Amino acid sequence: MGARITGTGSCLPQRRVSNADLATVVDTSDAWIVKRTGIRTRFLLSEGETPSDLGVVACQRALETAGRRPADVDLLLVATTFPDMICPGTSPFVAQGLGMRGAPFFDITAGCTGFVYALAVAEAYIQAELGERVLVLGFEALSRVTDWSDRRTCVLFGDGAGATLLERGGDGQGILGISLRGDPDKALLLHMPAGGTRRPASHDTVEGREHFLRMEGSGVFRSAVPLMREAMDNALLAAHLEREAVDWIIPHQANVRIIDAFADRLTLPRERVIVNVDRVANTSAASIPIALDEAVRDGRIRAGHVVVLTAFGAGVTYGAAVIRM
Ligand code: UT7
Repeated sequence: MGARITGTGSCLPQRRVSNADLATVVDTSDAWIVKRTGIRTRFLLSEGETPSDLGVVACQRALETAGRRPADVDLLLVATTFPDMICPGTSPFVAQGLGMRGAPFFDITAGCTGFVYALAVAEAYIQAELGERVLVLGFEALSRVTDWSDRRTCVLFGDGAGATLLERGGDGQGILGISLRGDPDKALLLHMPAGGTRRPASHDTVEGREHFLRMEGSGVFRSAVPLMREAMDNALLAAHLEREAVDWIIPHQANVRIIDAFADRLTLPRERVIVNVDRVANTSAASIPIALDEAVRDGRIRAGHVVVLTAFGAGVTYGAAVIRM
């Protein structure tokens, strides 16, 4: 008995920010951003908005499509790199917003791979018969930890949330194979230097702008393609499927150049690779569930389709899941 996806939902902030808008904030241009990243717009939280509210709406939409209520959820998992608060995370606020009472919730921090890691935990929870239904949310409010004076990073990210409901049942449907991997030697490729227990917040850390995301862009770029491909091949092996059986691939939406380089090395037609990074930018742990929900809602992904989700991110973590919808 597997764990199948019975509902998807997503939510983006209202505020749409173009590359031209960003060119008024840092020394950049629409031409540079489009050529190097393929990103044209992103959706960002406005001042005063509560990040986890996006997650609540994404979860409500996923529950609605599955015909379920918050009270039906046996576990809420929130994959997020930057929670509402370091303690207690984001999941309690999402559970509260949904009106859940008593069911467990926790955050999973695995960078942009967080959603795939969370799917693996959700499936194991269901297989272990600890619960029947697990709500998995990928959620990020990166605009709140972006250094808006650093043109190398601030053009890349967006905010958003995507959710899926996993339910016990459906032989041959759901998660067919999963592969999770990590390379801790690359831990500092993407990191926030201060604010954790290793380097607590102080006047110095604030003055040093150490509470913002830092990234070694070219190192991330070089690692991304081979890692996503390795993860995908391992997950297909676990699912006993060949690449030819795949209807759709949803890679982590980091940037179009990475997705193109990844797709070029596949034998699958480029049209089978789902891309929305041009419109929503890199939303980290939310990128895959948002793209999945959009493709389900516009009718590209349909019941019975085999979908590969593959991601890499801070840690470095990487992983992939093969799903039959
Ligand atoms: O979830 C994972 C998240 N991370 C990623 O997806 C990032 C992966 N990395 C990348 O996509 C690329 O490394 C970037 C898009 C971040 C950068 O592209 P690049 O081709 O590696 O550029 P670069 O860092 O080598 O910089 C080239 C030039 C530099 O100028 P100089 O030193 O040659 O004069 C940068 O200062 O481009 C400059 N530059 C910019 N210029 C205009 C960097 N950012 C910008 C910008 N606008 N936004």
